Amino acid sequence: MANDPHSIADFRDLARRRLPRFVFDFIDGGSGSENTLAENRRALDRIRLLGSAPTDVSDCSGAVTLFGRRHAFPAIIGPTGLAGAAWPRGDLDLARAASASEIPFVMSTAATATMEEVAAAGDGAKWFQLYLFKDRKVSKRLVERARTLGFRALEVTVDNAIPGRRLRDARNGFSLPFRWTPAKLASLALHPAWSLRMARAGAPKLEVMAAELGLQQTDTIAELMQSQLDGSVGWEDIKWVRDTWDGPLIVKGMLDPGQVSKALEIGVDGLVVSNHGGRQLDGAVATIDILPEFRAQAGSDLTLLVDSGFRTGSDIARALALGADAVQIGRATLYALASGGEQSVRRALAILKAEFEIAQMLMGARTLSDFDASMLRPSRSLATRETGRRTHDPSPENGPLSLVAGERQGALP
Ligand SMILES: Cc1cc2nc3c(=O)[nH]c(=O)nc-3n(C[C@H](O)[C@H](O)[C@H](O)COP(=O)(O)O)c2cc1C
Repeated sequence: MANDPHSIADFRDLARRRLPRFVFDFIDGGSGSENTLAENRRALDRIRLLGSAPTDVSDCSGAVTLFGRRHAFPAIIGPTGLAGAAWPRGDLDLARAASASEIPFVMSTAATATMEEVAAAGDGAKWFQLYLFKDRKVSKRLVERARTLGFRALEVTVDNAIPGRRLRDARNGFSLPFRWTPAKLASLALHPAWSLRMARAGAPKLEVMAAELGLQQTDTIAELMQSQLDGSVGWEDIKWVRDTWDGPLIVKGMLDPGQVSKALEIGVDGLVVSNHGGRQLDGAVATIDILPEFRAQAGSDLTLLVDSGFRTGSDIARALALGADAVQIGRATLYALASGGEQSVRRALAILKAEFEIAQMLMGARTLSDFDASMLRPSRSLATRETGRRTHDPSPENGPLSLVAGERQGALP
């Protein structure tokens, strides 16, 4: 139907219409001036794909194996706290949709469902995202529960030592529980379907954190995180997690390729190159721009994941060509969740998968291992953007984008 969503951008439009402003802004917003939020998109848009026709692409597979399990395409639903604000108990819808689409789901420590409920939602691969709390006993208990409940991988988020300043949330007075100012009440009246769903289901609650920490539900999310999370997390703490968890261990939130050697030393299995979707360090580098340096440092042993700004299947293809094994999805599936629960998330994943397969075939990659940086070029507008001078000659003599940024003139900045 003409009004059906056909892209993640369509889902974002729907979410904007269907959510009260303060909830949409919580999901959609970034930190500070939202410079990094915008840069994540700009950086992806700057990269052009080389079509490979004519190449025989009649027999292609987009399947990926991550930590011993095969998945339908190289995407993962990443951890997003407070998903229940988009749709009641939305974590379960996300988990079921990921299962049905044969990709992993990462449950957030700040989920609005219990670990038991998520573990039972669909038979797909579930990973657990761990925050390191000041009280290390809490983190240890979460690791033990993750193991008992069959979560297959642990993803430790390290870029949240202090919460980023989310100005939209501050301006909207976003808090937990929601405080009903006149502006918010007016917003409720304009979004009766969301209001009715929340009235029926009850306000979203951070189930895991509330159960473990006995939280006062009066804290704002930023206050809550700041009061509970350990701001002193370093590699010795990741080593502690390594010694506590014997399954696949992933570190999420790295932007400094110089630290990859530490991860290798400790025996970490995977990294997520992430700027938290532009929600933490404002002004941070776009992840797609730094990704090649991570692959160069990591060699072929580490599983390299990336997130922040990915909205289309050809964005995923760009990441694979620059060294990622798969892409974590944040807002894209949250917009879909807000639009219509599990069915909409399934549709969003089907759209991303179809878009990825089209890009894969037209780029001539029969399997994921065929992707490489020779399939990319920076756009001309990028090359002339700031100085007015061309910094990259996209002619064949000058070669493709380099896998190591900065290795030669013409690499992505
Ligand atoms: C509403 C929202 C909540 C999030 N909550 C968490 C969280 O609890 N833990 C975490 O590690 N990352 C969290 N993130 C960050 C995402 O995992 C991911 O890094 C980011 O959304 C990727 O960018 P994208 O939204 O542009 O895809 C959250 C992101 C959003 C948008």
